[in-house]
Amino acid sequence: MKLTKRMLGILLLLGLMLVLVACNNSSSDEPTDENDSNNSEEANGEEEQVTIVYARGVDTTPASEAVIKAFEEKFPNIKVEQREMPSDTGQSHDQYVTAFSSQSTEIDVFNADVIWPAEFAQANYALELDRFIEKDGINLEDYFPGTVQAGKFDGKQWAMPQYTDAGVLYYRTDIVDTPPETWDDLIAQAEELKGEEGTEFGYLMQSAQYEGLITNAIEFIASYGGEVVNENNEVVVDSPETVKALEKMKEVVGSDFVPSNILNFMEIETENAWIEGKSVFARNWPYLMSSSNDEERSSIVGNVEMTTMPAGDAGSASALGGWMTMINRYSEHPEEAWEFVKFISGPEGQKISAVEGGRAPTIEALYDDEEVQAVSSLFANPEFREVLQTAVPRPVTPIYPEISDIMQIEISKVLTGDQSAQEAATNMQTKMEAAMNE
Ligand code: GLC
Repeated sequence: MKLTKRMLGILLLLGLMLVLVACNNSSSDEPTDENDSNNSEEANGEEEQVTIVYARGVDTTPASEAVIKAFEEKFPNIKVEQREMPSDTGQSHDQYVTAFSSQSTEIDVFNADVIWPAEFAQANYALELDRFIEKDGINLEDYFPGTVQAGKFDGKQWAMPQYTDAGVLYYRTDIVDTPPETWDDLIAQAEELKGEEGTEFGYLMQSAQYEGLITNAIEFIASYGGEVVNENNEVVVDSPETVKALEKMKEVVGSDFVPSNILNFMEIETENAWIEGKSVFARNWPYLMSSSNDEERSSIVGNVEMTTMPAGDAGSASALGGWMTMINRYSEHPEEAWEFVKFISGPEGQKISAVEGGRAPTIEALYDDEEVQAVSSLFANPEFREVLQTAVPRPVTPIYPEISDIMQIEISKVLTGDQSAQEAATNMQTKMEAAMNE
């Protein structure tokens, strides 16, 4: 049979339709950028209402609520539902890994500890943000370089910096004349001043066996000149400096000016005891300033200042912490998720979280803002920007959870008196080398 032009046309059309149907049905695993079902609504001129789920750790300040309120006012078509994760970053981490490794679409946006992006990027849990950043002309140079770096892996940006953390020393201005400069000075003042103005303790810190212990330990280690992993990615933790630092840490934890259950203390226990007015000094992150001045919860409003951490032989050191915002690779609303990420990590969102939550911005220019400066004298002090920028990072590697576990176990054994500081240093060295060379 001879095909007429018309029949050929019909056949081609049928073929094309088959291909289209096949494409639509091949329920691909890949996340889609656009939600096709929305098109008709948009064509009708109605703005589609989307709810995104934002997961974050416990926030004892009003900051998260305030940021979301401001966002929803600006983007009335996007509703943000919050999902509260545990306050212990390690526990949160494990819950995210469970959800994301099964490609759950439940969470759209999540807060990520600075130690996670490398691991989450490698495991394919997150969406690369570069195309959004480019599209919206976000200038990453406005941010502290270290905080941008923490969200980078394999040359791509996986996370936007939301706020940065550096360990700081809190003290009671109604008790302390001159805040301590060194660890020995802190020990002396904590012993001497404990009991004044109704306090029970001289010092509070985070020494439970969890991630916060690592940040406290890193501050001791760096202040005595030690390092865990050097810039060439070599494990160098077994050093006389580490040993001296861990001995000092043990001296503090074993003293009678800390609570007898200090080995159960995380940030939340520190915060509760501190705002109840129970201690002269405390180590925590900048947010505690906001809780300290919260009229409803705190009994020490107006009597708190923060300063840099006490120095060891090599000076004062703060551990670098902080939180980034990431998008679940399998989010069904990546565009709206990005809108929220952009807001919360942008100048408006960061200012709200500084003013309402005492969180340290990652955008340098915000430190010139008067309302941000009013949060604490440290925020107004240009030297604090230095502290933030020179804070000591934890090793950046996709196997960070393993490294952290090794340190948690070995350092805890020193604090409980089950091994010496030297034994811990030797064991950490051997175990970390093995983990990194696997
Ligand atoms: C803070 C820091 C985070 C750190 C955690 C440890 O949340 O921002 O980086 O891992 O404390 O408890």
